[in-house]
Amino acid sequence: MKHILPAILLSMVVGLAAAMNDLQTAGRSAETCGDPDDTLAWYRVNVPSLFAYAYGTDPAWISSIILNDGYILQTVMGRVFLTHEESTVPCYFLSSDVLADNFVTINATERDAAIASGQYFLLPTLQTYIYPTEICGSIPMYRLYNSAKTSNFFTTSESERLSAISTSGYADLGIAGYILPDGVAC
Ligand SMILES: *[C@@H]1O[C@H](CO)[C@@H](O)[C@H](O)[C@H]1NC(C)=O
Repeated sequence: MKHILPAILLSMVVGLAAAMNDLQTAGRSAETCGDPDDTLAWYRVNVPSLFAYAYGTDPAWISSIILNDGYILQTVMGRVFLTHEESTVPCYFLSSDVLADNFVTINATERDAAIASGQYFLLPTLQTYIYPTEICGSIPMYRLYNSAKTSNFFTTSESERLSAISTSGYADLGIAGYILPDGVAC
């Protein structure tokens, strides 16, 4: 009888410790992710002579700028969401006619500064949602900038990133956000 109470107490303490450990593990490792089935392929098109690049998910829009604005289809960057899902943030699309340039950013301060400069305008229909950190199987989207051509360039390809720097006059501006690799959903 003398030993039963300490034994019960001990098992309670051990049980509690295990429960707290489970909780901590869940809190640390749980990634709340968007549903990959909701992503769409994000195409990149460009006008080589203008060093102009654009990005979109809508095949009708892609076709129309290929037909009307001289763009050519280059690649699929990866996959993005069109609506806000778990852990994603808006990725704004800014466009400049005067500079023949487009860029995307998750930074609202940069968005507002670009609009305030009078050179860029927001295209809400081309806004996507991406991850701000490398979670949920996402991959880095690199941003590069060629100041002589006022050309923003985005890529998920490490070899494209390196060749833009070494042969096309682009500076590395780091990682703009994280998108899903092409081929994770259909
Ligand atoms: C957002 O953009 C502003 C203006 O370009 C810049 O000063 C700031 O460092 C950026 N914030 C982040 C988190 O990158």
